[in-house]
Amino acid sequence: MDKILVTGGLGFIGSHTVVELQNEGYEVVIIDDLSNSSIDVLEGITAITGKKPFFEKLDLKEKAGVEAFFKKHNDIKGVIHFAASKAVGESVKEPLLYYENNISTLVYILKELKKLPSAAFIFSSSCTVYGQADELPITENAPVKQAESPYGNTKQIGEEIISDTCKVTPTLKAIALRYFNPVGAHESVNIGELPIGVPQNLVPFITQTAIGLREQLSVFGDDYPTPDGTCIRDYIHVVDLAKAHVVALERLLKNKNKANYETFNLGTGTGSSVLEVVKSFEKVSGKKLNYKIVGRREGDIISAYADTKKANEELGWKTKLTLDDAMRSAWNWEQKVRAKN
Ligand SMILES: NC(=O)c1ccc[n+]([C@@H]2O[C@H](COP(=O)([O-])OP(=O)(O)OC[C@H]3O[C@@H](n4cnc5c(N)ncnc54)[C@H](O)[C@@H]3O)[C@@H](O)[C@H]2O)c1
Repeated sequence: MDKILVTGGLGFIGSHTVVELQNEGYEVVIIDDLSNSSIDVLEGITAITGKKPFFEKLDLKEKAGVEAFFKKHNDIKGVIHFAASKAVGESVKEPLLYYENNISTLVYILKELKKLPSAAFIFSSSCTVYGQADELPITENAPVKQAESPYGNTKQIGEEIISDTCKVTPTLKAIALRYFNPVGAHESVNIGELPIGVPQNLVPFITQTAIGLREQLSVFGDDYPTPDGTCIRDYIHVVDLAKAHVVALERLLKNKNKANYETFNLGTGTGSSVLEVVKSFEKVSGKKLNYKIVGRREGDIISAYADTKKANEELGWKTKLTLDDAMRSAWNWEQKVRAKN
């Protein structure tokens, strides 16, 4: 089976994707610098799949290290590039850290892929590229709006870098996957989301509040023009998301792509409000969540959910798991993590 490099493969989405790749028989090599993950994740992946992936601890900002890696592994057929910094607020305070980590690592990898006789490349992009879209659900043709943060800008610039490179590199095929809001954990609870510090995202904040690590969840605004007044997002189970990466990779490896650079939205197609997510959590956990409505947070868009037609029909991929499934697995994961610590 083909050898696939997964950068950031010990992170939240990367680890779930490594599991799906190994389940499909791929030989996986992980690069991670452990800046936002733990080496223990390797054991979680091994417990689920029965196979320990090859792991190299490397900071992809080190160009010489990237070159040396590709010299050693000259039989890599594809790369799924998750490694990046992802905290929106931090990116506003430290833009250069974000441009350096998210852009230089991408350029160094693409430079190596250009040297190969053929290569498939999957890029972790985000629905943040659409900002507050004028029409919902959001299709891939919706205009890319001025980025709201340096983090969002790295995704837009990243997509442009890949597109420009593909135009002049017929041996390189690439897909940018624009994720909506990944949540949940593997049902075995051997892997899940491990936020360092205060969680930036709603679901880990909910589970950490329920377990007593945070006092209260603040719901930012209930006066938005939505049915219950709270913001709406498209929450996709991380296992569904991980499987989409395998399908996208196979599209490229089997030459089923229509152009050598393509983009796909990855979401469920259904928007859920913050209060609906809280209700789903309360239902599956049987616990009452301590939350309070506070003022709006600057920079929050009102509503975003995916049009899934292109991913369903062109990629041949559909989500199978529900918001309740995601909340149940996230809660089981939280309990396991806290029991260990
Ligand atoms: N989680 C989300 O809500 C979300 C949404 C849209 C897009 N994305 C993108 O998906 C990708 C994965 O996100 P995630 O949630 O799994 O994040 P994560 O932080 O859990 O995983 C990223 C991994 O990359 C590693 N890494 C970072 N910089 C590195 C470097 N220079 N060299 C080597 N390893 C490095 C980190 O240690 C971490 O293990 C990121 O590119 C992120 O921007 C995430």
